[in-house]
Amino acid sequence: MPQDWTSLFAQNMVGYEGYNIGKLFKHLSNPDIISLAAGLPSPDTFPTGQMQSVTNRLLQEDVDSIMQYVLIGGEPGLRQAVIELLRTEDIDIGEENLLITTSAQQGLDVVSRMLCNSGEVIILERPTFAGAICAFEMQKPIYAGAPMQEDGADIGRMRDILESYAKINVKPKFIYVVPDFQNPSGITMSLEKRQALLDLSYEYGVLIVEDSPYRWLRFSGQNIPSIYSLDQERGGNHVVGIYTFSKFFCPGMRVGFNIGPAPLIEMMTNIKEGSTLCTPKYNQDMCTAFLTEMGWQEHLDRARVYYREKADIFLKAMERHFPPQTGVSWTKPEGGMFAWAMAPKEIDTMELFHKAIERGVAFVPGEAFYAENPERNTMRISFSFPPKNQLDEAVGRLADCLKEMLD
Ligand SMILES: Cc1ncc(COP(=O)(O)O)c(C=O)c1O
Repeated sequence: MPQDWTSLFAQNMVGYEGYNIGKLFKHLSNPDIISLAAGLPSPDTFPTGQMQSVTNRLLQEDVDSIMQYVLIGGEPGLRQAVIELLRTEDIDIGEENLLITTSAQQGLDVVSRMLCNSGEVIILERPTFAGAICAFEMQKPIYAGAPMQEDGADIGRMRDILESYAKINVKPKFIYVVPDFQNPSGITMSLEKRQALLDLSYEYGVLIVEDSPYRWLRFSGQNIPSIYSLDQERGGNHVVGIYTFSKFFCPGMRVGFNIGPAPLIEMMTNIKEGSTLCTPKYNQDMCTAFLTEMGWQEHLDRARVYYREKADIFLKAMERHFPPQTGVSWTKPEGGMFAWAMAPKEIDTMELFHKAIERGVAFVPGEAFYAENPERNTMRISFSFPPKNQLDEAVGRLADCLKEMLD
């Protein structure tokens, strides 16, 4: 065999590094570090007691079927519960429009494998979800980014991108957006922009991939319809929706669902078959129980109050520790788990990250969230996981490090 194992790699895998921020997380095993890094739901929100009793019942009554292979497209009970959940969102789908996935990361993988050849164009937000870049990157696409603004991605810029590709007869494969409390920026796309994005999709015949794991975690402001439901109002089929139980139930289940036009769902089901075959039945049954017998709406009411409190403490800490003379600005999310901070241009947040680790606080340097041309003075700060009484201390430590770099 060759000494140089990389010579065996398929062309698309050469240089592939997986989740670029994953490597930074090795620092987080140190218990002295307060982590504002990972987008972890707090275990305080898990319905542990109910999960234990459902687990006992499943193991007593149903162990033989739980331990079996199951249908690729998902368990019938879960599929029905998801269809009903989506009705509460004014989304009306049939069986043929739904694939249960082994969570949204798989949802992203099957979408890009289905649609994208190497060298084809994906339009996305700047910054965008690092895990999506990780999934898409396996197809070696070309990225065209539109900057995030206060009310969501710059749709005018997306139009320019489509226009200039149209001039050379190139049609981008899809537009990827995270419209609700975006990971990483915490920004929510306005209704006007959702409609404008749909206009673009109709005009240029380009599919929208709407990834919305945080949708059910709004803790302030008015709910805005999903792009999927707005498209249904127009009678269209221009959107694939990617959803997950990870953020509103728990990520350990690894269960999610993709929705969309039937032929796309059929192809994604085939791709899932070649990849993970099926999603574990126990995990699916737990998600079914979450939707049918654990009182998911009350659970979410509690989770929203919980995250609102954390967001308030966090935002107050930001104001206290980053006065205007530091030149730092940040977003004010209405839901989800993240805020996005911009430091003065001369600050490289990767350098800041290493200083911060020494000082006992972690965040994610913004460069991880750009598919091209990273803005290195940015950072994602997550307020969902650390205990409430550590948030102020964590932000204070971060501010000290930044002030040292500015001096
Ligand atoms: C925008 C976005 N999409 C997808 C995912 C993947 O979630 P899952 O745990 O369901 O794989 C995440 C997780 O952080 C996310 O933030």
